[in-house]
This record gives sequence, C-alpha cells and structure tokens, in this order.
Amino acid sequence: MDVAMIDMVGMTKSYDMGPTQVHALRGVDVRIQRNEYVAIMGPSGSGKSPLMNLIGFLDVPTAGVYKLNGQMVSEMDDDQLADIRNQEIGFVFQTFHLLPRANALKNVELPLVYGGVPHRERRERAVQALEAVGLADRMDHRPNELSGGQRQRVAIARALANDPSIILADEPTGALDSRTGLEIMDLFTRLHASGNTIILVTHEEDIAANAHRIVRFRDGEVESDEAQPRAATAAATPHGGD
Ligand SMILES: Nc1ncnc2c1ncn2[C@@H]1O[C@H](COP(=O)(O)OP(=O)(O)OP(=O)(O)O)[C@@H](O)[C@H]1O
Ligand SMILES: [Mg+2]
Repeated sequence: MDVAMIDMVGMTKSYDMGPTQVHALRGVDVRIQRNEYVAIMGPSGSGKSPLMNLIGFLDVPTAGVYKLNGQMVSEMDDDQLADIRNQEIGFVFQTFHLLPRANALKNVELPLVYGGVPHRERRERAVQALEAVGLADRMDHRPNELSGGQRQRVAIARALANDPSIILADEPTGALDSRTGLEIMDLFTRLHASGNTIILVTHEEDIAANAHRIVRFRDGEVESDEAQPRAATAAATPHGGD
C-alpha cells in the first residue's frame, strides 16, 4: 500500500498573541513512511517543535490536513486521539520531563497507568523497557540519583513502554554532553533497526547524521528535504525483514 504513515498537507500553525499573530508553520507538506528515520533541523524559532506537537496530537493545526495511517486526524474525537497517541506515539524531550519524586520504574510505569494496563503487566513492561535501555540496575533510583544520560534513558524507556510505532524526540541530546548524546543516538539506531519510525529534532549536524533523511525548516517553511547517504548508519542489518 502506498499510504504514508504521516501525511501532512498545508500544515499551518499560528498563535494569537494579543494584537499580533505568530506564524509558526506556514503551509508545510511532510510525508513520512513507516520505519523512516528523519531528522528535523533549522534555526531556533523555525517551527520544529510546533510541527512535532502537531504530529503527536499535542496541538491542533490552524489549517491543513493531517492523515495518520490514512485516517483523518481532524475527524477523530478526543477518545480516539488519546487512544492512538497512547498506542502509536512515544515522546522524548530535551529536559526529560521525569517526575522528581518517583524512581525510574514508577516514571516508566506512569503512562501505562493512564493507558489502563493492569498492575502486574505494567510492572513487567516497565522492567522490560528499562532493561532495553540498559538500566536494569537503576530501577529504584530517582532522577536526581541518575546522570543526565541515564535520565534520558529513563525517558526513552517511558516512551517505549507502550510499544509505540513512532518515536518523537525533540532535541533529545540537547542537554547532554556529546559522548552521552552519542550513546543515546545508539539507542535510537537500535529502535529504528527494530522497526520504529523515528523523528528527531536536533541542532547538531553529527546527531542528524544518524538519520536517513534531513528536513530543514526556515521561518515556518520546509527549506530542504533530502535523503542522507547511509554510511553513518550502516550498522543496521541489511536484510529487509517484512
Ligand atoms: N505555544 C505557543 N504560543 C505562542 N507562540 C508560540 C508557541 N509555540 C511556539 N510559538 C512561536 O512559534 C515560533 C516557532 O516555534 P519554536 O520557537 O518552538 O520553534 P523551534 O524551531 O522548535 O525553535 P527551537 O529550536 O528554539 O526549539 C516561535 O516564534 C515561537 O515563539
Ligand atoms: Mg523547539
């Protein structure tokens, strides 16, 4: 089938700020296929985060058409939006957004509580997600008892706990030193190899080099959209899966 996973046409987002309007996105067309690995780049204020928020249903567009897996997002009711966001989308943010008083395990379990997953299964899935990011021995640590890279790995485990197909990461390495940032990128490369669709905002060219496609924004518009040479990401197994 030729239906793009994410299909946005003419996406427009304006914010009313008293008498003036801020035009964050000015009619953007973006199509992303399942299992793509895309980096979104562009100067501060060019509309990257507004786009990510629209992709993940955290915000509503001013105009434009968004279809996710062929389904018109504007026609979904709040329950459908919440269900699909829960099942399909995992968010990772620059500043981790962890609960300071909860240990790693509780932080990862939380979205499963909202998703109505029974207690025992919740615990199992959270443990698995933390193991997957290499934190089996840090589950009872609170955020302030973890390094920056470990905190981000907890946040990634939280995003993975629902087994989403799309990972949206807005500057996930922005608050990390470059070595720790590269470790986090290894994790994204593995997630991509296991079938996830990755959309990653970054200001750093060497971080973006992990992606297979770079979309550059300027002033709320797409400035360029180019496939990347695969050299940097050749670690993924070449055989095609399904
Ligand atoms: N909730 C909001 N209310 C009002 N204006 C907003 C809001 N979110 C974003 N904007 C405006 O939209 C424009 C683009 O947004 P934003 O600055 O988040 O882009 P960005 O590309 O993610 O930048 P950065 O690299 O700094 O994160 C900016 O001018 C910003 O002020
Ligand atoms: Mg931003």
